[in-house]
Amino acid sequence: MPDTPSITEIMTTMDYGPAPEASDTVQAWLEAHADGFGHFIGGAFTAPADRFEVQNPATGAALALVSQGSEADIAAAVKAARKAQGAWAALSGNARAQHLYALARHLQKRERFLAVLESMDNGKPIRESRDIDVPLAVRHFYHHAGWAAVLADEFPGQVPHGVCGQIIPWNFPLLMLAWKIAPALAAGNTVVLKPAEYTPLTALAFAQVCMEAGLPPGVVNIVTGDGAPGAALVAAEGVDKIAFTGSTGVGREIRRATAGTGKALTLELGGKSPFIVFADADIDAAVEGVVDAIWFNQGEVCCAGSRILVQEGVAQAFTDRLHRRMETLRLGDPLDKSVDMGAIVHPVQLARIRDLVAEGQAQGATLHQAAVALPEGGCFFPPSILTDVAPANVVAQAEIFGPVATLGTFRTPEEAVALANNTAYGLAASVWSENVNLCLDVAAQVRAGVVWINATNLFDAGAPFGGMRESGFGREGGRAGMGAYLRAPARKGRAASAPPAPQAIPLGAAPAGAGIDRTAKLYVGGAQKRPDGGASYTVTDPRGRSVGLAGLGNRKDIRNAVEAAHKASGWAKVSGHQRAQVLYYLAENLSARAPEFAERLRAMTGVRAAAAQAEVEASIARIFWYAAQADKFDHAVHPTVSGHVTLAMNEPFGVMGIACPVAAPLLGFVSLVLPAIAMGNRVVVLPSQSHPLAATDLYQVFDTSDLPGGVVNIVTGERDALARVLADHDDVGALWYIGGADGVRAVEHASAGNLKVTWCEVEGLRDWSGAEGQGRAFLHRATQVKTIWVPYGE
Ligand code: NAI
Repeated sequence: MPDTPSITEIMTTMDYGPAPEASDTVQAWLEAHADGFGHFIGGAFTAPADRFEVQNPATGAALALVSQGSEADIAAAVKAARKAQGAWAALSGNARAQHLYALARHLQKRERFLAVLESMDNGKPIRESRDIDVPLAVRHFYHHAGWAAVLADEFPGQVPHGVCGQIIPWNFPLLMLAWKIAPALAAGNTVVLKPAEYTPLTALAFAQVCMEAGLPPGVVNIVTGDGAPGAALVAAEGVDKIAFTGSTGVGREIRRATAGTGKALTLELGGKSPFIVFADADIDAAVEGVVDAIWFNQGEVCCAGSRILVQEGVAQAFTDRLHRRMETLRLGDPLDKSVDMGAIVHPVQLARIRDLVAEGQAQGATLHQAAVALPEGGCFFPPSILTDVAPANVVAQAEIFGPVATLGTFRTPEEAVALANNTAYGLAASVWSENVNLCLDVAAQVRAGVVWINATNLFDAGAPFGGMRESGFGREGGRAGMGAYLRAPARKGRAASAPPAPQAIPLGAAPAGAGIDRTAKLYVGGAQKRPDGGASYTVTDPRGRSVGLAGLGNRKDIRNAVEAAHKASGWAKVSGHQRAQVLYYLAENLSARAPEFAERLRAMTGVRAAAAQAEVEASIARIFWYAAQADKFDHAVHPTVSGHVTLAMNEPFGVMGIACPVAAPLLGFVSLVLPAIAMGNRVVVLPSQSHPLAATDLYQVFDTSDLPGGVVNIVTGERDALARVLADHDDVGALWYIGGADGVRAVEHASAGNLKVTWCEVEGLRDWSGAEGQGRAFLHRATQVKTIWVPYGE
């Protein structure tokens, strides 16, 4: 006889009895596929091959046999996706909307089946798969059905990328699938999706839904297996965009692998997100917040609030209540409806969590674990808090990806922000205080793509989600997420080759007639600086005649320029109106010297006087345009399903690097620098290597325009060598490079270091004087969206 508690005992403990969700339908489905699952390619399942076992992490029992995808499988899937793409994109937005709507309806019909399957495959509690994962996945398809219908009006002139390769992790298998597939399809792309090896089952069930819902063959293709088919998908010819969610390490590999291939890329990577509790917070709500922050989904959440920071005055009271709350968490069978925490996804992940915690303890951390009974067998780890965590402790920096948070204290809001930002990641943050001024002030200062105020782990298809810094780039959800699956139509043009490396002329060895005092210097921190190496190079006209000397900058000059740009951080805090005033003044001062600039352009490039004059006029007009945008490029408020105003703030990156094209030496420079600084970035610019003097002539214009020193820094010299230094630099947040194909590859490859956002384009494909040289697209590229969830209404 089981030990049944008496009524009195139940009334005292308020404990629940077991309430298991039935799994018979899922079991029957698994039994019907006892031979194993093949891949879903071109609208049909392949015969199972090279099968591996997928297990239930709560019991260790085998669930299914799934095929390990090969390079050939990936190639076949990409081929099917390519074949289907033209017709899919050619459908009207409304027709695609109907397909997405049908997928949403079919998923909704199977909500219970999918929730049970997800919990069995991943180990997450049914309460979460039933109430969060599956409904949110359905919501994504509905939301994006809507985007498909309005796409032509909302994103005029944009086209789909083509074939998207999508690689997803095991923590939210169906939800991540929905985040990836719904917007891709809405935009007119077709996809090849590679689910995680531990959790492929809901993706295979989704493949069946695609068949039932009548999705045209090849629009969605699913290849299962481990990292190998993932890597093959990244490398595959005929893939136009890669969207990846997973670890930062693999994200870096993918950045390197796609460098120079022209494949668009979005990366949603790891995090170590702060959870900040101020003394005036509703402490009970904040304690409940911790439960949702780090024990939701066993802490296997990229945006988990894994670093709890509590203001000193309430730290003890908060910790006591948190410890009490931990004791009441129920851990056990994921299919039990009254269980709060289920199983860790796989023994490998459990071992990783255990090892990290043990290492943290060895480095001085104190571990507090709830005294909850762990079920026998299966992958379980109790709710845990680590205190006494020194900043250098491994558990302070590494993503544990388990139900383990660190807890530390702070005294002032400034200290809270400093601690919050003391990480290479930048995915999310949660701020708790009854003072909304304080919350918003902190939200503006934390480096995170998503900030929740008095809440945590809220998601919605209408709200952009994604990281900054080593948490990756790109957004999923909302307008920004939709935009990530669209691009401008391909441009026709002839790719220009990179100019030859300039010949260094040491100090004092200048050719006759070009005295060293006429060498254009570098411009760093608002002052003219001699290049560190003391060398210069000759600037020639098309006939090879010298028209002047420019400084030959080196690695040290770039480092100095980046430092100067950092010091000018006040520029980001200046209002858009004030920035506009400075930029209008800049345009005015350039206008006053227009003939001189036109003459310089003519002398350097050999163009006719009228063309030179037109380039100067266009540059002045463009400065005015971006000045005007400085206070008009609006942020957004997104409607989400919960009671929040969800702000999408366009934030500058901080310090940006910009490598300018050789042609259009003034207009190219202005077209790239102005959108960046109008949005509050500070820039280190490499002007046209062959015709740098149009940029160096601007020093005086900057000086007379009240542009604060350090906002624009200019280093002349060998573009590709200097761009490489910028790409390697960890304090550069974004890098734009217009140049040769080799340069594109080198920049994208090196940018994997700090995962900076890059925009690289081969020179020659864009007409800088036309419409494609200016526009809101440049402002989008100069900013990253920070989503702030602010409570609003009931
Ligand atoms: P992972 O990054 O290796 O796996 C994610 C996906 O990428 C899976 O589908 C995997 O098969 C695929 N993959 C692996 N290697 C690949 C390659 N070279 N090229 C292309 N695709 C590849 O993550 P893993 O090993 O499962 O988890 C390790 C750690 O990563 C976790 O402890 C956690 O810290 C972090 N992680 C973060 C996630 C997030 O949402 N940010 C999700 C999953 C893991």
